[in-house]
Amino acid sequence: MDIKKVVIIGSGTMGSGIAAQLCNANVPVTLLDLKTEISSAAKERIHKSRPPLLIDKKQIENIKVGNINDNFDVVKDADWIVEAVVERIDIKHNIYEKIFKNRKPGAIVSSNTSSIPIKVLSEKLSKIEKKDFCITHFFNPVRYMGLLEIVKNENNDLNKINSLKKFCEVELGKGAIVCNDTPGFLGNRIGVYAMQVAMTEAFKMKLSIEEADAVFGRPMGVPKTGVFGLYDLIGIDLMADVLKSFIKELPKNDEFQIVAKEIPLITKLIETGYTGRKGKGGFYRMNKANNQKILEAINLESGEYLATKKIDLGIDTVNLNKLIDRDDKYGQYAWSIISKIIKYSSSLVPGITDKFNDIDEAMRLGFNWAMGPFEMLKSIGVKKFFERIDNFENNAFLTNLSKTKDENFYGERQLYTQIETLGKMKPKALKIDKNKSADIYRFKDFNIVEFTTKACALDYDSMDSLKNATDKPLIIINESMQFSAGVNLTYTMNFADKGDFKSIEKFIKYFQETCKHLKYSNFPVISAPSGLVLGGGEEVAIQSNFVVSHTNIVMGLVETLVGLVPAGGGCKEVLWRWTQTDEAKKDPDYAPLKVFNIIGYAKTATSPIEAEPLKFLRPQDKKIMNRNSLLDESKKIIYANRDFKPPKPCTFNLSGKPLKNKMIILLEKLYNDKVILDHGMEVGKELANVLSGGDTSIDKTLTEDDLYKLELDSFMRLIQTKKTQERIKHTLSTGKPLIN
Ligand code: NAI
Repeated sequence: MDIKKVVIIGSGTMGSGIAAQLCNANVPVTLLDLKTEISSAAKERIHKSRPPLLIDKKQIENIKVGNINDNFDVVKDADWIVEAVVERIDIKHNIYEKIFKNRKPGAIVSSNTSSIPIKVLSEKLSKIEKKDFCITHFFNPVRYMGLLEIVKNENNDLNKINSLKKFCEVELGKGAIVCNDTPGFLGNRIGVYAMQVAMTEAFKMKLSIEEADAVFGRPMGVPKTGVFGLYDLIGIDLMADVLKSFIKELPKNDEFQIVAKEIPLITKLIETGYTGRKGKGGFYRMNKANNQKILEAINLESGEYLATKKIDLGIDTVNLNKLIDRDDKYGQYAWSIISKIIKYSSSLVPGITDKFNDIDEAMRLGFNWAMGPFEMLKSIGVKKFFERIDNFENNAFLTNLSKTKDENFYGERQLYTQIETLGKMKPKALKIDKNKSADIYRFKDFNIVEFTTKACALDYDSMDSLKNATDKPLIIINESMQFSAGVNLTYTMNFADKGDFKSIEKFIKYFQETCKHLKYSNFPVISAPSGLVLGGGEEVAIQSNFVVSHTNIVMGLVETLVGLVPAGGGCKEVLWRWTQTDEAKKDPDYAPLKVFNIIGYAKTATSPIEAEPLKFLRPQDKKIMNRNSLLDESKKIIYANRDFKPPKPCTFNLSGKPLKNKMIILLEKLYNDKVILDHGMEVGKELANVLSGGDTSIDKTLTEDDLYKLELDSFMRLIQTKKTQERIKHTLSTGKPLIN
């Protein structure tokens, strides 16, 4: 089955998201809605969306629009028809009738329903039609959420399901998991249950919502929105509807029923318009007092809003054991929810899927959890789990495991895909070195470094692991969401607060030395980024010999936002790339001025296609839709470069003072227009100093080391200023830049 043309019916949130992802895969798609104006508006929305649904805006031309009355004929030509209209069975049934009258024989038809069983959706179809009908449950936002659940039942043609899965995996880049027709499928059944457990236990144990979110958050490997923050994000009213659907569909004795009961405070929030971020606020709300915005959180007992309190559990990375071993209410809360989630998930095997590890992957891809329930069990340890757990009657999975006590019960990971992923490769590593910021995996032909800190922020240890892993070809890749959000600013500020600038200098020098070492080592170094590739993260990527980039990246040198300049070779390397252009050969100031603009404005690219014109990536760098394939593609590069030779060192001829003056004139205009303030001017001048080559002239040849030195000196001058320190602290506490 070849999918060359797709029709999507319903151009709302999901229909347009799916259309955009098809565009990204360069597959022509027609969006039909009740009226052409609706689908046209959807096309417009896709084009303007932020974060962008399109990898390359030009791809929008792959989308045609129309309405279901005048343009239904397009269905006759389609290989796949996706229904993404409102969640109403009568409307969906009518559409299927029309589709099956028009589709070409064998064309696949799927629904994006989140809650209606395939059995009900297809009840009016003939036996032959049922063979080609399934559910393709995409998650919102489609471009960014890895999970796609393909729901089938006994009527389906499995060959067709498998070829659809392959298309969605290879072309659309999704982690496509085939599962059975059970309420909520995999991700939502467990994900919503987990949210409900986290919520009801917080009420029961009298935790504040900040406390609950701090526990059911990063230390558990759950995104930092936790439970109440996630409720606000999804919409409290929408969650209430989801729960109603679960209550209706699930058997009365299902454990889910216990945690899905209506909670009076939630009903009141919905009734008063506190439906979450889209409403007046929700569990959290933004309030204004004395012209200042204050984030407030609701008190679960009194219903009153009070300024939020920061909860510091002292656990920065995922660490279940440290969490559940705590001798306090946080430890009790964590154990209570983790054990319930493990118990519930294992009770559903083999009902919802016979491969328990699919549940973990669904949670990872659909809810961005670092590990799913069964990996949590593995991480706690089977023996320890059974020492603490009370009853688990009627749970065949746990009963069996309690007998075998097999610590290695897990077996291979990511069974849903044939691709040789990082997750599958890691357990096969010959030897593992590890420090507190990174893991090194050693294989016969290559090494892997995986950063392990929060947002993969880089410090001395991260550099150490990179340096120690260049005795073979090296792939820098990770499973967590970000490649690297940059240098660890908390680590840097800890030194700055003590006035220990010598240690900062030592770190930056080591950072530079490591990046230079990566670039010129005897074996190829490949960075395989996904997610954030910012600041120091981009400096590592750009000084690797090859890049295999996921299509979902945010890439850039954003140091100026925190009052610094890139000092790990970022200025130097981007400048070098720009000096290689034809324009730069004619005008020696062309490249430095371009880079001054790019780094000065902290420009970022939201896809590899956008990264290329900025020269953060080169045309030869690989762009990959499916994140699971990054490792495999990186390995191919190693095998294709057996006789790898490191690049020739680069040199620079820069104009020095006259060029710096040109840059200062640009800064003065921005200053006069109030685009930048006093400190912005200082930062701009330091950047100008680096990119103009400092005290040099055009006939003098500078080495990379000279450029590294200029970067370091500027960085050190800036980090010692109060204003830069203020900017860093502001960014660390709010996540936003400060203009000063
Ligand atoms: P939406 O309300 O944003 O869009 C629905 C679209 O269908 C509207 O543009 C509407 O004009 C159109 N429509 C209604 N009747 C139609 C008809 N007879 N013919 C053609 N178009 C018609 O809804 P959304 O959120 O995109 O949901 C679509 C489906 O995806 C639903 O089944 C929903 O349960 C499911 N879903 C939604 C998710 C979400 O996060 N929004 C996530 C996963 C699944």
